[in-house]
Amino acid sequence: MSSIHQQSIKEAAAYIRGQKGVEPQVGLILGSGLGVLAELIENPVSIPYTDIPHFPVSTVEGHEGELLLGTIHNRPVVLMKGRFHMYEGYGPEVTAFPVRVMKELGVKSLLVTNAAGGINTSFEPGDLMLISDHLNMTGTNPLIGPNDPDLGVRFPDMSQAYSRQLRQLAKEVAVGQGVALREGVYAGLLGPTYETPAEIVMLRTLGADAVGMSTVSEVIVARHAGLEVLGISCISNMAAGILDQPLSHDEVMETAEKVREKFLALVMAIIPKM
Ligand code: HPA
Repeated sequence: MSSIHQQSIKEAAAYIRGQKGVEPQVGLILGSGLGVLAELIENPVSIPYTDIPHFPVSTVEGHEGELLLGTIHNRPVVLMKGRFHMYEGYGPEVTAFPVRVMKELGVKSLLVTNAAGGINTSFEPGDLMLISDHLNMTGTNPLIGPNDPDLGVRFPDMSQAYSRQLRQLAKEVAVGQGVALREGVYAGLLGPTYETPAEIVMLRTLGADAVGMSTVSEVIVARHAGLEVLGISCISNMAAGILDQPLSHDEVMETAEKVREKFLALVMAIIPKM
């Protein structure tokens, strides 16, 4: 089974390589509102997911499915425009596939961003949070099943899931830009419901500073593959029960839109140094 999987990864990567002869060094998976980064890629080649052998296809409106290859300040990158969420019905291993293809293409480090609800009450909507660590609260794991030792070890170390070195780099770039950067623990849940206030109290008790519905399975696979990971959350709203108001996807998108310029500037400055 695992060799079939490996062959699918190799076939997908071979197809992508055939479209653009540059080996990407940095992989980018960007959450709600940061899709516009795609427009800042120099000499982009766009490959619809539907054209890539074995590639999953995203279903959610507003999450386009294409892979972009090009450069950012001369650094070769591959960007997933549209990611796969488990609440769409995909198994966690589906989120794994593109990350493994990135690794096969030559990627060494991965930048993941997301929109997240603020659990830490000192946060405010619009804050950017460097992810220092995560809580996998999805109840599953993308590495369940037979392990292919060519892809990674059976029991991967997660003690530095988010690279200390890349976090230091992000902090330095943020200081240089005068952008305030929070730091904290991201709790990744399945969704698609937002949390109840009681769940937010639970997550805070467990040490979470922010909560969202993505990222953890991608990061697990990235670590399995030996990629260095940098994660940044946009705090798009305060989590349930903190403010006396309902949560909505509109609020999430509005905040993401408001901080887009500062988020983009930060990310654009970090990528060439990753
Ligand atoms: N909870 C879960 N996911 C989210 C939130 C939230 O409050 N905001 C943005 N994504």
